[in-house]
Amino acid sequence: MMKAGILGAGYYVPEKIVTNADMEKIVDTTDEWIRTRTGIVERRFAASDEFVSDMGVKAAEMAIKNAGINREEIDLIITATITSDYSWPSAAVLIQDKLGLPGVPAFDISAACTGFIYSLAISRDMILAGSYKKILVIAAEKLSSITDMTDRNTCVLLGDGAGAAIVGESTTGEIMSAILHADGSRAKMLYQPAGGSAMPASVESVSNGLHYLKMDGREVYKQAIEKMPMVLDEAMKKAGVESSDVDFVIFHQANIRIISSIAEKFGWPDDKNIINIQKYGNTSAASVAIALDEAVGSGRIKRGDLVLMMVFGAGLTWGAAVIEW
Ligand code: ACO
Repeated sequence: MMKAGILGAGYYVPEKIVTNADMEKIVDTTDEWIRTRTGIVERRFAASDEFVSDMGVKAAEMAIKNAGINREEIDLIITATITSDYSWPSAAVLIQDKLGLPGVPAFDISAACTGFIYSLAISRDMILAGSYKKILVIAAEKLSSITDMTDRNTCVLLGDGAGAAIVGESTTGEIMSAILHADGSRAKMLYQPAGGSAMPASVESVSNGLHYLKMDGREVYKQAIEKMPMVLDEAMKKAGVESSDVDFVIFHQANIRIISSIAEKFGWPDDKNIINIQKYGNTSAASVAIALDEAVGSGRIKRGDLVLMMVFGAGLTWGAAVIEW
């Protein structure tokens, strides 16, 4: 039977490191508060002339190399992002152009942090349906471009970066399950009020800071703790695996306390949990994609390992996937 798997992955993070000490200079916060309440020590901010498509291309080139394919073999490009270079057209078409792949279909997925899992689910099904052979999935964000650097509730949490994966027919690894959920009744728990058709850009919207991300962090936290265990159970059940079979768990890197609470609930020891929040903060869609390739690149995750990934974020959206790497 045909299997769809990740043939190779890649990631890119901008050069500029912004430490908690740097954040102390911008807002009324402390390194101690950020470390203990979130687990974040530093994050990366993209340069002013570095956009989502630029970061996406760098991650994509690494994924193409690691998958051992020619870029011309890619027949579809999906980009998960909420911070595309422009409101439209998509980041995916810009990436298609920069990669030199004229004619290859390309589109974006808007599922915030959960975008990588949504993209994996879609690409897996498209491969299994025989519609495409090698799909380039990119998850890239420049959250610093929509962050209010005077709001200590959000600015210390977020960072920029990109991850990518080539999904295709596979004889070794497999995307065994990918479960998706959403709850639009909670859309305003985490959103960008202005810049869409509900509130187009105006002098007033800009002066009121409404083009920045707004978040009710406490409520999102509660939702994450409630929803994650359920979707993890669903993903493992669909894949036919038990929690004890899982070799590595890649959490959405949003808050170390959320990660620890879920790991404790499932009884996963520290060496199973892939954590890089201390280096990058929350990079939304890119979070799990970066962590996956970092762990593969360092030799921690090896071919044949069973990896569980989970994400929650704006929408609200949430999801989980089980892959055999
Ligand atoms: N430095 C110092 N104090 C701060 C800071 C800061 N950077 N930020 C908030 N505080 C203060 C608050 O003002 C509050 O003070 P008060 O009690 O005097 O009002 C106090 O710290 C506690 O605030 P809480 O909101 O209760 O802090 P909490 O422990 O819940 O942590 C946090 C806040 C980190 C945002 C947490 O709720 C969280 O991680 N939520 C989930 C975020 C998330 O996962 N988002 C989803 C993905 S993001 C995306 O999709 C783009």
